[in-house]
Amino acid sequence: MKPEFKEVSLCVFDAYGTLFDVHSAVRQHVHSLGPQAQAISMLWRQKQLEYTWLRSLMGRYVDFSQVTAEALHYALQTHAISDAALEQRLLLAYNQLSSYPEVIATLRQLRGAGIATAILSNGSPNMLQAAVRYAGLTDLIDQVISVDDLAIYKPDPRVYQLALDAFGVTKDQVLFHSSNAWDVAGAVNFGFNVAWVNRFSQPPEPLSRSPDLEIDDLHQVVAALSI
Ligand code: LAC
Repeated sequence: MKPEFKEVSLCVFDAYGTLFDVHSAVRQHVHSLGPQAQAISMLWRQKQLEYTWLRSLMGRYVDFSQVTAEALHYALQTHAISDAALEQRLLLAYNQLSSYPEVIATLRQLRGAGIATAILSNGSPNMLQAAVRYAGLTDLIDQVISVDDLAIYKPDPRVYQLALDAFGVTKDQVLFHSSNAWDVAGAVNFGFNVAWVNRFSQPPEPLSRSPDLEIDDLHQVVAALSI
């Protein structure tokens, strides 16, 4: 085990892209979207994240459910799709995302070893509660922490502080996990131990020192913590 992991007692997870597959929403409606389905899903995610960064910088916070709806509307408009009923079905699907295959087993093993678990996410409380319930994670996550009370999005350092405050722990007791390289940079910048779940073999972002661990799926964390 890496020396810096010796004090880890809490594993904190980003939600969208790390635990939940954001593209599973569009996959549920690929028959309605046709060959442009993947492009729509990619643009939806891109705009969703862009809007969180822009709104934080402008001081114009709205919750992640509104950001997600506005980003979807933009993506559909860009692809000349105007269908309010389909839009609503896609937003409902976003509350019913698939979790990645290794998530449940990994959370079970971490908790079985006495490690506390948390979600720290831009998601609004109602979105996260729906996603956690649908994926069957309710009994595997000790706390679900949303940025919503702060009214500012990642990678603002105040977001990562929420996890320390919620559990009364210090930074060296936390291992933060995200598949989003920009979120990894934010967590590294804040001072957490950080695992980059590089699910799509992407190159690193030049925004911070390297994460403490780079893995391609969450199961590798179990070995990294010598569980
Ligand atoms: C989240 C997004 C950024 O869950 O993935 O916070």
